[in-house]
Amino acid sequence: MKNLNETKKRILTGDRPTGPLHLGHYIGSLKNRVELQDKYDEFILIADVQALTDNFENPEKVRKNVIEVALDYLSVGIDPKKATIFIQSLVSEIAELTVYFLNLVTVSRLEQNPTVRQEIKEKGFEKSLPAGFFMYPISQAADIAIFNADFVPVGEDQLPMIEQTREIVRKFNKLYGKTLIEPKELLSEFSRLPGVDGKAKMSKSLGNVINLSDSPEIVKKQVMKMYTDPTRIRATDTGHIKGNVVFTYHDAFNSNKKEVEEMKEKYKKGKIGDVEIKNKLVEVLNEFLEPIRKRRKEYEKDLGEVQNIILKGTQKAREAASETLNRVRKAMKIDYFK
Ligand code: TRP
Repeated sequence: MKNLNETKKRILTGDRPTGPLHLGHYIGSLKNRVELQDKYDEFILIADVQALTDNFENPEKVRKNVIEVALDYLSVGIDPKKATIFIQSLVSEIAELTVYFLNLVTVSRLEQNPTVRQEIKEKGFEKSLPAGFFMYPISQAADIAIFNADFVPVGEDQLPMIEQTREIVRKFNKLYGKTLIEPKELLSEFSRLPGVDGKAKMSKSLGNVINLSDSPEIVKKQVMKMYTDPTRIRATDTGHIKGNVVFTYHDAFNSNKKEVEEMKEKYKKGKIGDVEIKNKLVEVLNEFLEPIRKRRKEYEKDLGEVQNIILKGTQKAREAASETLNRVRKAMKIDYFK
């Protein structure tokens, strides 16, 4: 029987397993992935090799989060019958392709990558930049190219990575003959969710996230902390909607649009307090998270099954990668003694 997926375009996405996934990941990418898994042959990479480039001193953290991230995927409704979930380090073909790709990129081109520049600053790597971190865009290009991905669903911040991948693929094809596919981005209708403190950057260390695996109590605590309207002292003062995190989250998660509009109107007129809109949000978020928590519990009871899903996905990914790598070796004339 012909595999149905053969007729579908392939997409490749992934995350670094450095912590549990949060509501920002859901809005920015997971939601999209759940929707895309029917239409595309979806490969989802748990990027542990990339995670180690800035966590090489903390391998336990990466190891622990590989399974956490897999559980997050399954809990939000990524269906292992449709999508292929796999672990990057177990597909060693990617590492080999990375080595060949290294020849095709200059150091000065790498230095220009805005995403990496930004991260170097954030991580305080200016003084002692690990070579592995510096060149991770090349490894990411190999992730994408080795699976012949037609599209990479991304948010704005990852665009430089796709551009760099295309450049490398173009150069490879020019030098060694057409072998690899130039991927295109599939820009998610990206609504970037702010942290509960209103900061654009969401991170565990800032304590400003709500994780998909958080309990109702934590959700409540985080919502109560939310940044609202600093100009408003009393509930009867007129309030602002723009930049008000509680309303940003309502817009993202409250399916009752009419209710949200009514609350906004009242808020602007000073007829509803912060506590009330926050309590409503707690309800909305817990309602959204409940089925996710339930599915997670089911999978947690059967971690052997989760392991099987990842192993099967990785097996399939290896087969695809090794097929590409054979063609790459042939194109590069290093396919000795066949
Ligand atoms: N860079 C991505 C992140 O930090 C993870 C990633 C690694 C990725 N390889 C990829 C994303 C390939 C898309 C395609 O989240």
